[in-house]
Amino acid sequence: MNKKLLKIKNKVLRCRKCKLYKTRKQPVVGEGNPQAKIMFIGESPGHWEDVKGEPFVGRAGKILDELLESAKIKRKEVYITNILKCRPPENRNPQKREIESCTPYLLEQIKIIKPKVICTLGNFSTAFIFRQYGLENKIKGISSLHGKFFKSGKTILIPFYHPAVVVYNNKMKKILIKDFLTLKNLL
Ligand code: URA
Repeated sequence: MNKKLLKIKNKVLRCRKCKLYKTRKQPVVGEGNPQAKIMFIGESPGHWEDVKGEPFVGRAGKILDELLESAKIKRKEVYITNILKCRPPENRNPQKREIESCTPYLLEQIKIIKPKVICTLGNFSTAFIFRQYGLENKIKGISSLHGKFFKSGKTILIPFYHPAVVVYNNKMKKILIKDFLTLKNLL
């Protein structure tokens, strides 16, 4: 593993900055190619991610894998992480204070990997990344932003629906597949 990413990993593994360390099994730092052109940012680990220590390995992960495959993108080519590195109890939404204490790790990861394209999955990561990249005035619900391109400096930001929406509504898969195709065309 890239030395700088390993340093972050070791910090996250010891992290006690918010109360989620008390209920997590283990933090989920992120995984993938340290030189990835595309970085995916989800919300927070769920049950299986907490068990395995890897991002998107549960039901939402299976859907993400299908979407990547449909766009002919290999999972090992990209980098996948979340705005929160620890699982919130009962998979509740991330809280403001948790996002504030955890996201310095994400920002360090972005600085090291320098992705050309950042794909945010769902409302929480989209709002956080848009704020960071000076696009605060463009923040809207994911149903308005999904599949659109936004440029900030050299970085392209593309928000997607969170893959978990398909778990609850299978009809959403079509929309996600179409949105992911834009990624294929971009590369
Ligand atoms: N949902 C997320 O946002 N991230 C994961 O790693 C798994 C499910």
